[in-house]
Amino acid sequence: MSTALVILAAGKGTRMHSDIPKVLHPIAQVPMLVHAMRAGAILSPERTVIVTGHGAEAVAKVATAEDEAAQIAVQDEQLGTAHAVAQTREALDGFTGDVVVLYGDTPFLQPDTLERMIAARAENDLVILGFEAADPARYGRLVMNGDSLERIVEFKDASDEERAITFCNSGLLACDAQALFSLIDTVRNDNAAGEYYLTDVVEIARARGLKVTAVACDEAQTLGVNSRTDLAAADAVFQASARAELLDLGVTLMAPDTVYLAADTVIGRDTVIEPNVVFGPGVTVESGATIRSFSHLEGCHVSRGSIVGPYARLRPGAELAENARIGNFVEIKNAEIAEGAKVNHLSYIGDASVGAASNIGAGTITCNYDGVMKHRTTIGENVFVGSNTMLVAPVKVGDGAMTATGTVVTRDVEPGALAVARAKQDNKPGYARKLFDMLKAKKARRDKGA
Ligand code: UD1
Ligand code: MG
Repeated sequence: MSTALVILAAGKGTRMHSDIPKVLHPIAQVPMLVHAMRAGAILSPERTVIVTGHGAEAVAKVATAEDEAAQIAVQDEQLGTAHAVAQTREALDGFTGDVVVLYGDTPFLQPDTLERMIAARAENDLVILGFEAADPARYGRLVMNGDSLERIVEFKDASDEERAITFCNSGLLACDAQALFSLIDTVRNDNAAGEYYLTDVVEIARARGLKVTAVACDEAQTLGVNSRTDLAAADAVFQASARAELLDLGVTLMAPDTVYLAADTVIGRDTVIEPNVVFGPGVTVESGATIRSFSHLEGCHVSRGSIVGPYARLRPGAELAENARIGNFVEIKNAEIAEGAKVNHLSYIGDASVGAASNIGAGTITCNYDGVMKHRTTIGENVFVGSNTMLVAPVKVGDGAMTATGTVVTRDVEPGALAVARAKQDNKPGYARKLFDMLKAKKARRDKGA
């Protein structure tokens, strides 16, 4: 049976108090919408349609970056969830099979839940995903009669008796495409919110003698995000499960609660992560590395045996080979640090390559930016860069070369050469005492005058 995925993402998300469309707010550094698309992708959908409205262009851009085949249906006015699904009619023209409706703001759906919905569809015309809510709050309530779902009543329209029901609507459903559009055609908006509720299809289907049921999943999977508080809670749920997964894989997290992960963070076994480390998107850390406290990593790769931090920043394009050392207050951007090379203190290495076993002294800066363009610095193998060296790119330092402390390197340094470029020192005997006396006398005159 072929499947089409419909993801509702037109809502404004008023309670987010944001200029960014709700579904583009990230959880673990990945937009909620992308989480939903990845969850739905396990159904290998023949078509994927994203219903956009608020911030349609921005939402479409993120959706098509994730899946270039994704279709965009625009819902100009948000008249309700049924109205939103109705906007996919054109995109689903000629499609036969099941439609699975997901929400763009429900990012934690598990693959087996979707599979169970599809399995239940074999015996039913319409399948709704429900959950037992610890606090049912404002969710729609599922009115069951044995295995049969009679109807869904929205909180706003529910009686006290119905509000006491704790089995709630996640909003997800599976139904034959043509049947669903036919049901939606008869949904009206004569309710407390004046909206076209998708949930009304249940009662209409029952009236037509169709079989409707609800499949249950645990509440964590249906966690919807409506506010910044929800967003923070959703992120916390994600972090907790991602940390648990890493621990299971054999990664040491010294203080798990203080390590912040991205959805795509990959860390090998026997790597040790000290407290207070942040992983942005696109980080891979191989086995047996150590990431010390207060380090921030994004878009980088750390090889086996390397030690990073404390207080290190690895930015996109940082490539550390085996046994590299990146120490405190060091920033690496778009640079390869070869095997065994060390950048241990207070340095910026950007748009550069550092050869194997080279040592970069404290305070070294690659001056990569001239205000308009970026330029590369190439440092060979076994190079010793003296402390406080400025490497004015584009520039090359050959294998086995050395730079004197405080040197400003503006020309290439041949292999094996020593580059010295600093003012010559001149010691003036007795001058220090004279200068102090002069300054003290000046201060005394000023204090007296005041
Ligand atoms: C909906 C359900 C409710 C369920 C809850 C679960 C309806 C009528 N109610 O309520 O039973 O318990 O979700 O979270 O379906 N959207 C559009 N276009 C619209 C309206 C909404 O695309 O015109 C999208 C939103 O962006 C969102 C999703 O549909 O992703 C749900 O909309 P929302 O307004 O959050 O519905 P709830 O009131 O939470
Ligand atoms: Mg909602």
